[in-house]
Amino acid sequence: MNTAVRLDHASAIDTALAHAEQQFIAANPLSQARHQRACHVMPGGHSRQTLFYAPFPLTIASGDAARVTDLDGHQYLNLVGDYAAGVFGQTCAPIQQAVRDALQAGISLSGLNTKELELAELISRRIPSIEQLRFCNSGSEAVLFASLVARHATKRPKLLVFNGCYHGGFMIYGPSDPGLSVPFPLVKATYNDVPGTRATLRANGTDIAAVLVEPMMGSGGCIPASAEFLTMLREETRRAGIVLIFDEVMTSRLAPGGVQSLRGIQPDMTTLGKFWGGGFAFGAFGGSRELMRHLDTRSGGLLSQGGTFNNNILAMSAGLVGARDVYTPEACVWLNALGDKLREQLNALGRSLSLGFQATGLGGVLNTHWRDVSMTEPSLLEPATAPVRRLFQLEMFSRGYYVAQRGMINLSLPLQESDLDGFVGQVRDYLSRHAAILPRAQSK
Ligand SMILES: Cc1ncc(COP(=O)(O)O)c(C=O)c1O
Repeated sequence: MNTAVRLDHASAIDTALAHAEQQFIAANPLSQARHQRACHVMPGGHSRQTLFYAPFPLTIASGDAARVTDLDGHQYLNLVGDYAAGVFGQTCAPIQQAVRDALQAGISLSGLNTKELELAELISRRIPSIEQLRFCNSGSEAVLFASLVARHATKRPKLLVFNGCYHGGFMIYGPSDPGLSVPFPLVKATYNDVPGTRATLRANGTDIAAVLVEPMMGSGGCIPASAEFLTMLREETRRAGIVLIFDEVMTSRLAPGGVQSLRGIQPDMTTLGKFWGGGFAFGAFGGSRELMRHLDTRSGGLLSQGGTFNNNILAMSAGLVGARDVYTPEACVWLNALGDKLREQLNALGRSLSLGFQATGLGGVLNTHWRDVSMTEPSLLEPATAPVRRLFQLEMFSRGYYVAQRGMINLSLPLQESDLDGFVGQVRDYLSRHAAILPRAQSK
């Protein structure tokens, strides 16, 4: 495309976006007022960066099954799925009952409870590489704890991480690391780069405590790791005595035993979060007995892990019922097959309309992209705030679909196939109407 055509293209998208934004503002006065009020007491008006988007985020007032309703009374099909945590949808009778029962039995019990034991046993059965585990309050904490255990066990300082990977609020490894990341000494490599990462590991191995990797890059655009890449990481870490940590906070929902079971690779440690808490604050980290023994202070372990709410009865009760009775292995396989179908349908739309539109991911966790290059690592992604992403989000809102600005889609159990067919129909209509201003597929 020559420069003049590209500029026309960009300004046409900007014009459409300005129009969509005006409509959004007019339709959402209560969300806007809440946002303005919140900005006085919370920087940016919120406590979770992921939930912010311009011109202001919708305030969600309530939810039912797979639908949410905002403060101004609009109802949406929820495809945000709480950024992968919302496997159970907005209402789930067995979980709600478990929480009522837990409340009835008393809060702040000040001791151990049976639910944490049952949940720990269930997790260890489903994910056999987790011989032992400990609970905490978030995926972010889980990654931090696992990294600290690895550093203690190996007596080495560094972590090898991948550009663009998100490991929670304390460990975000974008092109430039935000100031809130823990200042661990790092070695950085490129996701899915087999020879480059192997060389980096061989050059720095004796200083590296752990390789920390998401088996599918989740927040970084739903880019699956190749089997070759994960296999190389397993071989090289074993060879150099490095702890291989799979961050499965997001990906453990993709198969009954997590992505490690899909790929047939056993990491030394695994971190969990999100759906395992049944909708409540949750984190867990675990791995081989050999590594986890450092937390057993009865037998000389030096790591004494704290956390008032680590075994809180609401998360333990909801998580146990959610994983045992609701997100059973069968339900997990069903939901992820639904996601695979949706991804294929979205990709077919991009191809049939010759647009640079595609969806990546695995199972029920997807991300749309506005380029037709093969997405293997995050430097290929357009920014979350690119006008083409923002326009899609605002237009989908106006059609009754709650979607994330960065294009992430997370399915939940109450969704019906017909709900997703309706969504695909709306995306088809959107792509056809805006074809002239959307990125074209590269000529073949
Ligand atoms: C791979 C990964 N690790 C860690 C985290 C942090 O989990 P939490 O938000 O529960 O702290 C996330 C959250 O999105 C994640 O996707």
